[in-house]
Amino acid sequence: MEKAAAKARIDELSGILMENSRRYYVDNAPTMSDYEFDMLMHELERLEEQWPEFKEPDSPTQRVGSDLQKGFVQRPHRYPMLSLANTYSISEVEDFAVRAERSLGSGFSYCCELKFDGTAICLTYRDGKLYRALTRGDGVKGDDVTENARRIGGLPQILHGDYPKDFEIRGEVLMPYDAFDALNRERLDAEEPPFANPRNAASGSLKLSDPEEVARRGLICTLYHIPAQSGLDFASHDEAMKAARSWGLPVSEHRSIARSIGEIKEYIDYWDRQRKFLPFATDGIVIKINEMEYQRALGYTAKVPRWAVAYKFKAEQALTPILSIDYQVGRTGAVTPVANLRPVQLSGTIVKRATLVNAGQMEALDIHEGDWVYVEKGGEIIPKITGVEPSKRSAGAAKPVFPSVCPDCGTPLVREEDEAKWFCPNSDGCPMQIKGELLHFAGRKAMNILAGEATVEQLFSMGYVRTPADLYDLTLSQLLTLEGWKEKSARRFRASLEASLDVPFDRVLFALGIRFVGETTAKQIAEHFGNIGAIAAASREELLSVPDVGEVIADSILDWFADERHGIEIQRLEAHGLRFSMGTRAAGLSSALEGKTIVVSGVFSVSRDEMKALIGRHGGKNSGSVSGKTSFLLAGANPGPEKIRKCEELGVPVMSEEEFRALLPETASAPEAEAGSVKPSLFDDEPTLF
Ligand code: IVH
Repeated sequence: MEKAAAKARIDELSGILMENSRRYYVDNAPTMSDYEFDMLMHELERLEEQWPEFKEPDSPTQRVGSDLQKGFVQRPHRYPMLSLANTYSISEVEDFAVRAERSLGSGFSYCCELKFDGTAICLTYRDGKLYRALTRGDGVKGDDVTENARRIGGLPQILHGDYPKDFEIRGEVLMPYDAFDALNRERLDAEEPPFANPRNAASGSLKLSDPEEVARRGLICTLYHIPAQSGLDFASHDEAMKAARSWGLPVSEHRSIARSIGEIKEYIDYWDRQRKFLPFATDGIVIKINEMEYQRALGYTAKVPRWAVAYKFKAEQALTPILSIDYQVGRTGAVTPVANLRPVQLSGTIVKRATLVNAGQMEALDIHEGDWVYVEKGGEIIPKITGVEPSKRSAGAAKPVFPSVCPDCGTPLVREEDEAKWFCPNSDGCPMQIKGELLHFAGRKAMNILAGEATVEQLFSMGYVRTPADLYDLTLSQLLTLEGWKEKSARRFRASLEASLDVPFDRVLFALGIRFVGETTAKQIAEHFGNIGAIAAASREELLSVPDVGEVIADSILDWFADERHGIEIQRLEAHGLRFSMGTRAAGLSSALEGKTIVVSGVFSVSRDEMKALIGRHGGKNSGSVSGKTSFLLAGANPGPEKIRKCEELGVPVMSEEEFRALLPETASAPEAEAGSVKPSLFDDEPTLF
């Protein structure tokens, strides 16, 4: 590769890896499979080795992916918290063993362990008590999650036996498959997006702001590392783990000492088969030099220990026949082929559907009707079809015919020159596109309105809603005509619309659904221009001056604003009180709770976050724990017993949601307009119920 090309590829890979690392560690919503990510990282490592002059100190190869998040206190790690070198190839594990034997001779052993697929945690115990828990963070400092860690199942607050006075131990927080399935069922019922896998669910749960909710999530923990630098007197890692277990700490029993590469391979083969029967996710095997003396001698690179390597399993595959193929129209009009499969078990869940991506991919895979296909889970929720088993194809099976018209509205499909996808151009009239736009607008990362697929379908089929602004025009009597809707559901829905008026401008911009304007780009554009008028008036050059905005995005923004229907939609949304500029907070509702410090606990008719927002907008202060300063505890169903006990002890009043709502002025249930404009109430016919 030429020098310039190498530099360009290094820059490109660094960008992709940094972005995906953020999606993985911070958003808990990866869009790339671990395998794809690892392969790109290895490519970058190779290029940097070849062209060391292009290796930047902050390259993703030199740093661990950071999980640091706003809202947490960050604390330094006593010893850096690093990652592991990983490989998918047995011959690279052999190379590791050869190197180890060359430098250490024959008087050492390996400790083989499972590689647990959760989120890393570092625990400090002082005087036998759990003192602190930090996430890995950026490896140097971590987020303090101590209160949440106290809610992890099986993790002792107090040790027994002959424990050291002050020590650190590290491990992985996991969400077992059954807790994961239960959580996702709950989320789907509440029309919230499910977690893609147990790892994301575990790390998202460990970062919740409410420790009682963490307690309900069913997390567990397994510990696997006492840093050799800590000076504790263990001859080997295995001994350290046995001791930790004797103090009552959860340490896996599936460890095994190996003395040769042959024994390592036996361990790998065994667990590659048996791991399917474990109640939690694993993604490989970790091979560690067992003797502490040698661990200390080998030390660390900037990112990984030299005394360990992870052998990662390729994503599990399942083989199952295609029953039929649906062609789904997304909000942008793109048509995606999705295969309906004979249900099959894959990595702990049952898979019934898998994406075929686009017409080109169907061609590349050479899909025929009724084919048996290999399915894998990538980073996304819908699994991918990665190959066909030709030996199982029935004689005379035909190739599926990609539709030439939109399966929803019948409009002929179009394909732009360099697009891989076919599109339905009927963006205004195609029901799937309209519903897709509404779902995107209501999504958690956009306006966070309680309207999932079922609700959008109902609102659309009744003819009540065509564009996002219609949502804010809905009347209570309309809502109560929806099948299955009662006062309570209407109230919850209304509260989520109200709360959406507080959504900051960058998310409103994202919610508008301009093609190619994702969350991050929307944020950059919002910050750069400050308000919607400036974006609408921006020239192509001005748009291009925003970091990350290339020609495709700039043209898409220009096209979107050139459509006058979008201008009208923005005016309507603005009139409803949505935020179309940076920095202006939605006006408060009243000062009914001024001077009150309120703790919320339990389940309410709206989400706890919405309840807290409501308190704030009526002038009250939210607090996480009950103290002498607490004005009252606002208790929903199943409040935390510890909080109730504390209230009794301190004489703090406990109030129900009903009592609480009675404190709020009825007329002020909808936000005030920004100065100078008259804002209609969200529900003109509401006084009968609210
Ligand atoms: S030892 C200095 N042992 O895998 C690093 N890590 O992909 C010491 N992991 O950051 C880590 N199972 O979060 C170790 N048995 C195990 C592990 C393990 C899972 C995680 C850990 C690490 C990541 C690297």
